Amino acid sequence: MKTIERITILGAGTIGMSWAALFLASGRTVTICDPDESIEPKMLAFLASTKTALISLGWPNAGCNKKLRFDANPVTAVQQAQFIQESIAERLDLKHQLYQSIEPHLAPGTPVATSTSGLGLTELQRGFKDPSRLILAHPFNPPHLIPLVEMMGNQDTDTSLLAHAESFYTSLGKQTIRLEREIPGHIANRLQSALWRECIYLLKSGVASLEDIDKAVTYGPGLRWAALGPSSLFHLGGGDKGISGFCEHIGPPMQTWWDDLGDAQLDAETIALLEEGMAKITAHSNSETLRHRRDTLIVDFLQSIKNLSDD
Ligand SMILES: NC(=O)c1ccc[n+]([C@@H]2O[C@H](COP(=O)([O-])OP(=O)(O)OC[C@H]3O[C@@H](n4cnc5c(N)ncnc54)[C@H](O)[C@@H]3O)[C@@H](O)[C@H]2O)c1
Repeated sequence: MKTIERITILGAGTIGMSWAALFLASGRTVTICDPDESIEPKMLAFLASTKTALISLGWPNAGCNKKLRFDANPVTAVQQAQFIQESIAERLDLKHQLYQSIEPHLAPGTPVATSTSGLGLTELQRGFKDPSRLILAHPFNPPHLIPLVEMMGNQDTDTSLLAHAESFYTSLGKQTIRLEREIPGHIANRLQSALWRECIYLLKSGVASLEDIDKAVTYGPGLRWAALGPSSLFHLGGGDKGISGFCEHIGPPMQTWWDDLGDAQLDAETIALLEEGMAKITAHSNSETLRHRRDTLIVDFLQSIKNLSDD
C-alpha cells in the first residue's frame, strides 16, 4: 500500500478541523472540503489554537499551514487524495449524497474513513456502489488529542484497506480498537452514556449536586480509568485472587447496585436541571477555563504515558 501523504477532510466542523490539525502536524498535505464560506479563517484560527498542545505531544510541525488547501467542491477535493476522513453532519441522507458524488472520482484503493458517532457502517455503505472502501474510524473529541479510534469493517469491507488505515492512525499515536459487530453508539459512547445516565438519575433524585457528581468521577474512578480500564482495576482490587477475588468480595453488593441503577430521559425538566447545575459550575470556572483545564491535563497525562512507555 502507498504511504499516505495527501488527505482530504470532508466536513471541517468540530471533528474535521481537529483531525486536520493532527494530520497537518504529522507533515501531510490536507485538503479541506466544507461548504461553510468562512471555513478558511475558522480552520486557521483552530490550527493556531492547537499548536502548543501538539508540539508538546511531539509534533514539531504543528500549527504550520503550508500544506493546508481548501476546495469546496467534493469532486475535485478527493481526486488526488490517498485517504479521506469524512466528518460531515451526522445525517444519513447527507452522507449518502456525498458518497455518491465522490465515488466516481476516488483513486483506486483510497480508503474513506467515516467519523460517525452513531450511524451504522452497513447503512452508510449503501451510499457506495462499491462499499468495500468505507470503514468506520470513530474518534473521540478532540481527535488531535484523544488517542482512541474505534474501527470497524464488515463482510463487504476490503480488509487490507482497514489494516492500512489502522496502521496509519497508529503511526499518528492513536490507540485503535476493533468492533467485531455493529452496535448503536459503538463502544466508548455506550460506556460514557451509561455513566451519564446514572449521573442524571443521581441529580434528579437529589442525591448530590451536579458539581459533586462530576467531582466524584474526576477525583475518583475517572483518574484511575485514565490509567487502566475498569476490569483491570477491579482485578487489582481483588488482591492475590485478582478478578475472581474481586467478584467474590464485591460481586454481591455490586449486583444490588446494578439492580438499583436509575433511568433517565433528556426531557425539558432534566435539561433545565442540567443547565442549573452547569450554571453553578461555570459561575466559578467558565467554559474557557474548563476547556483549558481539559486540554492541559490531557496533554500532561499523554506526556506521562509516553514517558512511561519510553522507560
Ligand atoms: N462532536 C463530537 O463530539 C463527535 C465526536 C466523534 C465523532 N463525531 C462525528 O463526526 C461527524 C461530524 O461531527 P461534528 O461534531 O464535527 O459536526 P459539525 O456540525 O461541527 O461539523 C460538520 C461540518 O460538516 C460540514 N458539511 C456539511 N455538509 C457537508 C458536505 N456535504 N460536504 C462537506 N462538508 C459538509 C458543515 O459545514 C460543518 O462544518 C459526525 O458524523 C459526528 O457523529 C462527532
